[in-house]
Amino acid sequence: MKKFTPTAMVLGLLLFLSGCGATATRGKAPTTLKEGLNRHFHIGTALNHHHLHGTDTKGLEIVKEQFSAIVAENCMKSMYLQPKEGEFFFGDADKFVEFGERNSMHITGHTLIWHSQAPGWLFTDDAGNDVSPEVLKKRMRNHIHTVVSRYKGRVKGWDVVNEAILDNGEYRDSKFYQILGEEFIPLAFQYAYEADPDAELYYNDYNEWHVGKRDAIIKMANSLRERGIRIDGIGMQGHVGMNYPSIGDYKAAIDAYANAGLKVMVTEFEVSILPHPGRRVSSNIADTEAYRNEIDPYREGLPDSARIAWEERMLDFFSLFIESSDKLTRVTLWGVTDGDSWKNNFPVRGRTDYPLLFDREYNAKPVVQKIIELGRTNK
Ligand code: G3I
Repeated sequence: MKKFTPTAMVLGLLLFLSGCGATATRGKAPTTLKEGLNRHFHIGTALNHHHLHGTDTKGLEIVKEQFSAIVAENCMKSMYLQPKEGEFFFGDADKFVEFGERNSMHITGHTLIWHSQAPGWLFTDDAGNDVSPEVLKKRMRNHIHTVVSRYKGRVKGWDVVNEAILDNGEYRDSKFYQILGEEFIPLAFQYAYEADPDAELYYNDYNEWHVGKRDAIIKMANSLRERGIRIDGIGMQGHVGMNYPSIGDYKAAIDAYANAGLKVMVTEFEVSILPHPGRRVSSNIADTEAYRNEIDPYREGLPDSARIAWEERMLDFFSLFIESSDKLTRVTLWGVTDGDSWKNNFPVRGRTDYPLLFDREYNAKPVVQKIIELGRTNK
């Protein structure tokens, strides 16, 4: 019979106790999203201006209690960080990062290079003409180096380039593309890597399940890596509705990005329950009223039938995320309460949507406990 050395016996005892410890931990039912999901992936949310300026303390309490990751909804976009060439404003971004550090959260920077919310000066010379490729490269490099090095070792991942590819796989005809062609993407990733070699570097986009876009993103990522340029992961924004995309299409996209050797994150998730506005509004006021009721049907609240359908849709996605947790490193909601959501104003201003996990009274929706339970009992 094999004799156990004292070391082996102590090690065995420690392993047994740690197992018991795990059992004891497992015995305490998780009561928050991060307790229920953290063994699968980071569960995150987006901080807005009100969170950072202390005018939404209730929302911030929910962030601290429920989430393990945060992303800046707006304050780290180039138009806010460098509104004028050489003039940086880091006040809000510093508050955002310091909050994340104080609460031991995974911090993501959003977003270094994006055609939208970029300051006009970035692309134009004093005469208002497009700058040369060399000037734009210099300006991109200075912006990225200044921002990323400021938060080196603190911001764990950056949305380096956002929304550069169209649903059909073509490149967006942005000023970045018009002046530098496809090269602006590898340049952006190279500059970010130079500034913080330890940060994860992501490409982030919406409609990321469209096959044309999906395959073009993978082709772009492969071309960067073939050139020895660091890209770690793909951010699937996850702005979904009740009927699009199918869970199968979304799963196929997660699998495709993962099979390409990329980390995958859901970065701006919400489920909008509002119909997409179709026809144009007629001048007839009665038609307008009817149209208003059609595209903004839940102004007075969500009927049970709609709430149940929305909850099922949300749980379908979280079941997919947990089932895919070997491929997903983070799932981030694009806001805390329904009142925070950009979907109340896009694609139609002033509507009432219910896309997030906490309601306008800062209460956790019933689906939150069901998600926690899903996380506890699956995989
Ligand atoms: O802060 C000003 C306020 O002072 C001013 O009174 C008000 C007037 O409208 O504007 C406020 O700024 C708004 C800002 O959000 C903060 O609320 C901007 O107008 C508005 O354009 C901006 O919208 C943001 C949008 O990006 C800009 O494109 C949304 O909050 C934000 O949720 C949204 O997020 C993007 C991601 O970054 C990238 N993926 C798509 C997603 C949705 O568009």
